[in-house]
Amino acid sequence: MLNNLSIRKDDVPSAIVQSAASAGFTVMLPSTNRRSLDQLLSIVECIAGINITTKQLKAGEFDPLLHSDAEQQPDLLIYWLDERWQPELTALIEHPVSQRIPIIIVSDCHEQAAMRMAMKAGAIDYLRPPFDSLELQSSINELMNDQNCNEKNVTITSVINAKGGSGASLFSCTLAHMMAKLNEKKVALIDMDIQFGSLCHYFNMDSKYGLIEALQNAFELDEVALEGYMLKHESGLDLLDIKPGDFILPEDIHSEHMDVLLKLMAKKYEHIVVDMPRHLDALSCLVLESSDKVVVVLQQSISHLRDAKRLLDILRNDLGIDKERILVVLNRYDKNNDLSLKDIQKTLNHPVSTTLPNAYKVVSESVNQGVPLYDVASRSPIIKSMHKISNQIIDPDGQESRKKGLFNRLFG
Ligand SMILES: Nc1ncnc2c1ncn2[C@@H]1O[C@H](COP(=O)(O)OP(=O)(O)O)[C@@H](O)[C@H]1O
Ligand SMILES: [Mg+2]
Repeated sequence: MLNNLSIRKDDVPSAIVQSAASAGFTVMLPSTNRRSLDQLLSIVECIAGINITTKQLKAGEFDPLLHSDAEQQPDLLIYWLDERWQPELTALIEHPVSQRIPIIIVSDCHEQAAMRMAMKAGAIDYLRPPFDSLELQSSINELMNDQNCNEKNVTITSVINAKGGSGASLFSCTLAHMMAKLNEKKVALIDMDIQFGSLCHYFNMDSKYGLIEALQNAFELDEVALEGYMLKHESGLDLLDIKPGDFILPEDIHSEHMDVLLKLMAKKYEHIVVDMPRHLDALSCLVLESSDKVVVVLQQSISHLRDAKRLLDILRNDLGIDKERILVVLNRYDKNNDLSLKDIQKTLNHPVSTTLPNAYKVVSESVNQGVPLYDVASRSPIIKSMHKISNQIIDPDGQESRKKGLFNRLFG
């Protein structure tokens, strides 16, 4: 929300225009130059739930935070430096560390000294013009949501199969449903298979808007608007599904949009379960990297084992996902199979968290009727195994392996 809508090109308020709304996230935009202020305003005002304050700096004035007491402090300062970056950054560094707020610096200065000073002043990002407005918007969204998530424990669990047909979608639906129904948590299930997904049938529901539309509007969405995209199941589970007929290539979706959407969902839900597509691309990698737990579902065959090994190597080595964040689930396990559980764990160099038995009858009944597996057979062996893995995921100790903070990811 822009509070000083009356701003015109030649009419910048000469003092801090304090946000009218006391709640929300406040961004201060100091103006050293008319054009840079206009550009920043046009980018920042698109973000839902934001209050903007502007401050025009007089000649010889370098510190936009000067004279703003604790209550007037914004949550974020976006400072577009001019050629006088040295006194501007020095003024910011002079603030006591305890009183520093997050800052995003925009500057075309390439000097290392400027970057070092910016970091010292509390910069969480350093952008060089011309920069992509999405880049700035996602940094702001990340900060807004990080502040929110710090107060709340949110777990994101991605479920991916080692090979098509392993049972990842059945697992995601059953897990999310049991979390919502048995733990009375606010749980969302996202169908990330943007080309072939259709999880709504597992719950006998019809898609309305779906993930693609939510992604397209991600920057404008707030928690209330997000509601409109979610399918509501009687268990309390909310599903963000793929609308049939929506066709888009994954590469046509900016991963920033997914990032923003996930962060918004993290504000609203306690658990987010994501049913991942088979292939890895920028979008799915972002979700995997953002996940607290990645569940890899495979079956008991050599070809599944080969693909699972390759996938685990990619997750660990290429995406840098810690071993503790990866849970392996062996579906349709048969203890008489020649390929033993021990061999599988040894080949994968990873423990199997749980095995799920073949349950053709109850699974068929569940899928054909659109009734979640737990509601069809709450005492079946497959559900008993699901309890075990669900508890491991809900375990609060898992929070420790959350992804690194914004600063580390930006500068790391
Ligand atoms: N343990 C199981 N017992 C019986 N049928 C299963 C089991 N796990 C999965 N299935 C069935 O196997 C098929 C493929 O499962 P699905 O979850 O769609 O796999 P994926 O998402 O990994 O491609 C579905 O028809 C599903 O209902
Ligand atoms: Mg699937």
